[in-house]
Amino acid sequence: MGAGTVETLDVGDCEQVLLLRDPGSGARALIAIHDTRLGPAFGGIRRWRYGSCAEALADVAALARAMTWKCALAELPAGGGKAVVPDAPGLDRRRAYEFLGEQVERLGGRFFTGPDVGTTEEDLRAVAARTRFCADPAGCAAIADGTARGVFAAVVATAGHIGRDLRGLRVLVQGLGAVGARLCARLAQAGADLLVADVDAARTAAAAAEHGARAVPAAAALTTPCDLLAPCALGGGIDAAVAASLPALAVCGAANNVLADARAGAVLHARGIPVAPDLAANAGGLIHGATLQLTGRAAPAARIDAIGAAVAELLARSRREDVPPLELAIAEARRRLLSATP
Ligand code: NAI
Repeated sequence: MGAGTVETLDVGDCEQVLLLRDPGSGARALIAIHDTRLGPAFGGIRRWRYGSCAEALADVAALARAMTWKCALAELPAGGGKAVVPDAPGLDRRRAYEFLGEQVERLGGRFFTGPDVGTTEEDLRAVAARTRFCADPAGCAAIADGTARGVFAAVVATAGHIGRDLRGLRVLVQGLGAVGARLCARLAQAGADLLVADVDAARTAAAAAEHGARAVPAAAALTTPCDLLAPCALGGGIDAAVAASLPALAVCGAANNVLADARAGAVLHARGIPVAPDLAANAGGLIHGATLQLTGRAAPAARIDAIGAAVAELLARSRREDVPPLELAIAEARRRLLSATP
């Protein structure tokens, strides 16, 4: 075990936030546990180049909070957490992940972790070598499969909400990583007319070739007309200004916190553009991973496919009650959290 330091930070509505520093290697990480009233916190590890410590803190707290809502909405006996490893030139990556694993172990099961953007299977092996409370690194692909399966069900529901099915539907998939690439395969098989965009030109070219999709420059992903935009890159890409001119009829993807803020959601709602709440749409991997961790058994596929019906219901209520769908989803998650706790 290393002799790193662990500092407790007071961050907004989170139960516990830890700043981890390993003086030997310079490695740092943050763990945020947002809420454990329904059960142990679940959340993956994001490695990202943040502009400042404050930015990393804000991100880890927002992602952990979203996990709480996601678990409550999915009716899992689990809460929300997240970890981030701020990337920096010369980061001793293996040591950073090992050190993080040691601290996850010290939390004694209050926090279960797994993959997220920037964390590879090898990184996860470094974590899993130091803690029992980590998803099986060999299971990363199955988690992404679960997420893509759920997002696909949500896309079908969102298309249905605007009176369309997938055949000939122009779907622009932004971000062709673990989830985006799998989603493309499902959409292509269902007869969607695919447009694909990634900052990684090789990924864009590969998806275009594999599915006969039209490649779109990454910088034009949010300005290219399509029927349904499927954001599967990073969150925060749609702010109020982007929302005001987004040339799509509907939005449904995997990216966590895709709307930069509530204003963006309000603008899209006012324009009559339904946005499937990412909290509901992208829960398939969580349902798979948490069920496996908590019960030792895989979640039935039907449990993930049920995301489609949940999204359809949220969009229908949004139309009836004239409230943006994400607001409804968060209110429903809060209601479940309160009704399940004394
Ligand atoms: P990934 O890291 O495998 O793929 C992300 C892709 O987005 C990469 O190919 C990257 O080059 C691309 N990208 C980054 N910025 C971009 C931009 N501005 N424009 C276009 N492409 C861009 O990540 P993964 O696992 O596929 O996750 C995608 C999103 O879904 C993330 O927001 C993640 O938090 C969310 N998510 C993932 C889950 C999973 O099971 N992997 C579960 C739930 C949510």
